Amino acid sequence: MNGELFPPLEGEREALGPCAFVLRGFALPYVDELLTAISDLERNAPFRHMVTPGGFSMSVALTNCGALGWTTDKRGYRYTEIDPDSGKPWPTMPPAFDRLAREAACAAGFPDFRPDACLVNRYRPGARLSLHQDKNERDYDAPIVSVSLGMSAVFLFGGHERGDKALKVPLHHGDVAVWGGEDRLRYHGVMPIKDHPHFLLGSQRINFTFRKAG
Ligand code: SIN
Ligand code: FE2
Repeated sequence: MNGELFPPLEGEREALGPCAFVLRGFALPYVDELLTAISDLERNAPFRHMVTPGGFSMSVALTNCGALGWTTDKRGYRYTEIDPDSGKPWPTMPPAFDRLAREAACAAGFPDFRPDACLVNRYRPGARLSLHQDKNERDYDAPIVSVSLGMSAVFLFGGHERGDKALKVPLHHGDVAVWGGEDRLRYHGVMPIKDHPHFLLGSQRINFTFRKAG
């Protein structure tokens, strides 16, 4: 039995580390607003498969909202104010996104979170995200707030070295993961998504990652 599949419970928070938690179902009251906002966002800044600096097309499709958007191309990873596909600023962050991100951060012990970037990832079956650190942000004092909708995923939450053993954390529709403080730079990723269609979203998983990037 792999004990890591069942992290310790702390009230309604599951602790993944001293400053890292999963808030089960925290986003459920927001789902209708989030889905409406995604269809607006998608019209103005469609999901696209970006290319990594190594020249690979990402299996995850992404878009952004907020003052800054995370992008990658052959020149590297970075945040931009402009959507490179449209030449226009990224759509503004919908109020419901901002509220959810702040409330989740607060529930995880980060009361002053002011996100200026929301990366929205769309996973189809088989899409994955290899282990990485979030380190394109200017300072690491602010946490990362990550919201899951649709199909379930196995989130890998590792240590400070790429080779450290990773926890395997199931993330379901409505769950929110928050990591900051001494856990802010831990390696993390997502295992290939299995095709178990979700009753609302079908064969996709949407993940929002809120950050203070600038
Ligand atoms: C990310 O690390 O940017 C996304 C994590 C996730 O999809 O759960
Ligand atoms: Fe990440």
